[in-house]
Amino acid sequence: MANHFIKIIVAVTLTVSCMGVAAPAWANTEVETAELLIKLLQVGRAVISDHQATINDASKGDKGFTSDFVSNQVIERFRKATKIDLSRPSAVPQAPLFLAMVESEKEVIEEAQPVINKQGVGFKGMIPAVFARKSGERFYRKTGIRVKLTGTDYRFPGNRPDDFESEVLRIFADTRHPKGQPYSKATMLDGKPVLRMMDPEYAAATCLGCHGNPKGERDITGAKKEGWHEGDLAGAISIVIPMR
Ligand code: HEC
Repeated sequence: MANHFIKIIVAVTLTVSCMGVAAPAWANTEVETAELLIKLLQVGRAVISDHQATINDASKGDKGFTSDFVSNQVIERFRKATKIDLSRPSAVPQAPLFLAMVESEKEVIEEAQPVINKQGVGFKGMIPAVFARKSGERFYRKTGIRVKLTGTDYRFPGNRPDDFESEVLRIFADTRHPKGQPYSKATMLDGKPVLRMMDPEYAAATCLGCHGNPKGERDITGAKKEGWHEGDLAGAISIVIPMR
């Protein structure tokens, strides 16, 4: 299965490409694929975020927040953002790969149905970051492509940045780095050529209930708040695409 998807990724030799710096034309496909996969995860996360009040509603049992609802929303939002319509996959060259991400997100919501529909429980731990992590894990098992959320002051141990990610997070934190600009590089990982991309994320007002102040105080999840302020670098989505 994984090989099938990797074959879709055309070979890119070891070429360093930083967005903004000229990259060879044939590297563009992989960079674009990475960007679009990140976008698919971001729109999925936004669907969770926009329905957080419903998910957390203790008074309701069945919430209608089904896996089909979420995957339709993801496809619709992705189409609006990119003009790529995954409901007509035959017209999309990379459709199998993109649909593997949609399917991963769908499975996470399917698996969480008993939790989401539990009456009498408010906060259930089904939040955008957890959704993104679980979707990324499933997507990796399907495709061999790693996608994760990471940050310098990470909460979940599996989100710990590796050396490359730590370095890029330092670049993102530097005020000279244009805000919001992703970083990509063709490099080696475990002796194999990969394309890596990271897309920085910044703290919005909505994040501060959990990640804000007072620093060290417990948030609704029971974890200690990081003390971020609006606009601070929060972390990044990191993707690793194997190449051949
Ligand atoms: C309801 C509380 C809550 C809110 C609101 C929230 N987060 Fe988080 N965030 C968490 C939790 C819990 C984790 C750990 C998720 C996991 O288990 O993988 C996390 C993880 C992360 C991570 C991955 C690194 C890590 O800490 O493991 C980033 C980056 C992040 N959040 C950024 C944000 C941003 C940006 C926002 C606002 C758009 C936000 N968060 C809103 C609770 C929250």
